[in-house]
Amino acid sequence: MTSPAVPASGTDTLPAPSPLGGPNLPQERRLVTAIPGPRSQELLDRKAAAVAAGVGHTVPIQAVAAGGGVVVDADGNSLIDLGAGIAVTSLGNAHPKIVAAVQAQVAQFTHTCFMISPYESYVAVAEALNRITPGDHEKKSALFNSGAEAVENAVKIARKYTGKQAVVAFDHGYHGRTNLTMALTAKSMPYKSGFGPFASEVYRAPMSYPFRDGLSGADAAKRAISIMDKQVGADNLAAVIIEPIQGEGGFIVPADGFLSALVDWCRANNVVFIADEVQTGFARTGAMFASDGFDIVPDLITTAKGIAGGLPLAAVTGRAEIMDASHAGGLGGTYGGNPIACAAALAAIDAFEHDGLIQRASELGAILTERLTAIQASDPRLGEVRGRGAMIAAEFVDPVTGEPDAALTASIAKACIGEGVIVLTCGTYGNVIRFLPPLSISDDLLGEGLDVLAAALSRT
Ligand SMILES: Cc1ncc(COP(=O)(O)O)c(C=O)c1O
Repeated sequence: MTSPAVPASGTDTLPAPSPLGGPNLPQERRLVTAIPGPRSQELLDRKAAAVAAGVGHTVPIQAVAAGGGVVVDADGNSLIDLGAGIAVTSLGNAHPKIVAAVQAQVAQFTHTCFMISPYESYVAVAEALNRITPGDHEKKSALFNSGAEAVENAVKIARKYTGKQAVVAFDHGYHGRTNLTMALTAKSMPYKSGFGPFASEVYRAPMSYPFRDGLSGADAAKRAISIMDKQVGADNLAAVIIEPIQGEGGFIVPADGFLSALVDWCRANNVVFIADEVQTGFARTGAMFASDGFDIVPDLITTAKGIAGGLPLAAVTGRAEIMDASHAGGLGGTYGGNPIACAAALAAIDAFEHDGLIQRASELGAILTERLTAIQASDPRLGEVRGRGAMIAAEFVDPVTGEPDAALTASIAKACIGEGVIVLTCGTYGNVIRFLPPLSISDDLLGEGLDVLAAALSRT
């Protein structure tokens, strides 16, 4: 195999960034080459030669600019963005408030390490998270770099507080790719296969998945609690961790009453209830947090993704007495709560609170649900449309057997991407297309993206 030519300098072969960054990009789907075009293909060839094979990619382009509801590639194609970098750029890419906050901070100082020389923005992010997360009890927060790191720390904190070790996670759950979070994650391929052994004292309970189990929330909770009670034992159980709406698992919305029954059981048994809101947080579901929409108050909540407009930041927020269980020095890390990420988070949280984004998520959700439900009415391969706010999924099945249809799902997604619409798949069975548009997308662009999807489905 011949190696691709090495560029004289790392950036020599890259096109200049678009002068129209962020929300000023023309809001249109525009295809000027096949996907991938030649410049994108050149980068993908270099990626194959230089980047570890385990780091995959979904959309075969070289991104050079993004904003509003589009991602622009190096060949001049403009793709409709229905993924927001996996629910991260909820405000829209390169949002002006984020850009201004980051530019100001980066010129001031880039790092001191909060554990060495504390700074104000970290504390302000903690104060904001303590204020906006569910419940009006006294709360504290700690900041980290990624969703998986937040989950790891939530489990550490729960163990320290309860003096117990076991953790229960759920079927279809996804919590990350580090060793403990792989153990918490349900799906083997691609997340876990060959990467064991996994962390011990992790147990799995059945999720409420109304489309597939047909159970009421109360019955699904009874089934899960029986396993926690009989197979783990409350005396051994430090924490239950659950995504209020499962993300990678297929945007599974539990039946009403399921989550509240789990919370009640945890509270009665000195078990810390952790809501993993890494994907569902920050206006995404038409509420500031999905827990709000289910009327539950978690003991601890993990956040990341949408928190800082694309900069790496994550948090654990929760009851002060639980968060304070750790000795000094037991939590933290070199970069956790980096000042640039904190500046971005303060700008992002300000926008989530004041720019009508919760309302906008609900509006986008209504458009998605109405359109997908209409498609479902004429095509029984679309088995279920579900989700909340701007976190909506379409589950594809064999209409006769109800079995998951991963091949159909993959070919629709591939067709959409080839026609300039970024869609992501998910689900334990790989048969779900998930819609996570940036909340800055226009109705028209979202509608056009769904037109492309409908046409792809009818051709497949
Ligand atoms: C619910 C949930 N938890 C944890 C994670 C892991 O986050 P990260 O990829 O930032 O480590 C994810 C990522 O998709 C997630 O959706």
